Amino acid sequence: MKIRKAVFPVAGLGTRVLPATKAMPKEMLTIVDKPLIQYVVDEAREAGIEHFVFVTGRNKGVIEDHFDRMFELDATLEARGKKAEQDILARDQPDAGAMSFTRQQAPLGLGHAVWCARDVVGDEPFAVLLPDELVLNTPGCLAQMIEAAAKLPDKSNLIAVQEVPADQTHQYGICGIGKRLAQRGVFEVASMVEKPPKGTAPSNLSITGRYILQPEIFRILQTQERGAGGEIQLTDAMIGLSKSQTFYGVEFEGERHDCGSKAGFLRANIAYGMARADLRDGLREEMRKYLEQ
Ligand code: G1P
Repeated sequence: MKIRKAVFPVAGLGTRVLPATKAMPKEMLTIVDKPLIQYVVDEAREAGIEHFVFVTGRNKGVIEDHFDRMFELDATLEARGKKAEQDILARDQPDAGAMSFTRQQAPLGLGHAVWCARDVVGDEPFAVLLPDELVLNTPGCLAQMIEAAAKLPDKSNLIAVQEVPADQTHQYGICGIGKRLAQRGVFEVASMVEKPPKGTAPSNLSITGRYILQPEIFRILQTQERGAGGEIQLTDAMIGLSKSQTFYGVEFEGERHDCGSKAGFLRANIAYGMARADLRDGLREEMRKYLEQ
């Protein structure tokens, strides 16, 4: 099963981090020195993804600009002999023709956003990455999933999962654990439920923002049925597809950061800053000062 395309739903309003996201897309919030969207695109590239499909919306044009060449900037860096900066810009940009942008015209939910990518994806398995969530690890989360998928039958679907405390299960999609496979951390998903009321979750394994899905999911999303919160939920479509295809949970390695919340965003900045050899010592010194206050 070759996964060539990845879908990035980036039309969300980012209400959890207002006012930062009033005029700027949340996907452009910066972790250390890169926007969130760059991290997930890099994760997808590292996993071998060849085509990047962005489902955008109003006020998201700057995401498209971020992945374009900036001729004035390039020319200025060239004239000033700033080779290192030029290399960074070249490194971060996908190849010409390797990106598509489509629009979700109304905020109808994650399932609807993914459905908006159906024509660009076509009839092949694909990945979905939610840019709110970063996973700090090498290899990245999607690379680990693609490695797991290589050992599974064709027409398998995979979801990345990680444990959350029992008092947080109502904030996520949660899956029930079925048969465990010989592959480490991989199991058959027995059930899925989107944002179960407190005390009703089948486990504390939450669905994180990484999926490998078969194209048949689009037929189910086509029905546009509303679920939790009145939205068209991807989890509900996955429940539908699980009646005819198998879903596998992948307990990946790495630290997960929910950057769509203020506390998670701050924590991610610290974690990614501390992971950088050029910043670590100075940052540790600064943090020590605050912790002593
Ligand atoms: C979405 C999914 C949910 C998943 C979560 C991970 O929810 O619907 O199943 O657990 O992402 O971040 P959202 O955060 O969009 O409410």
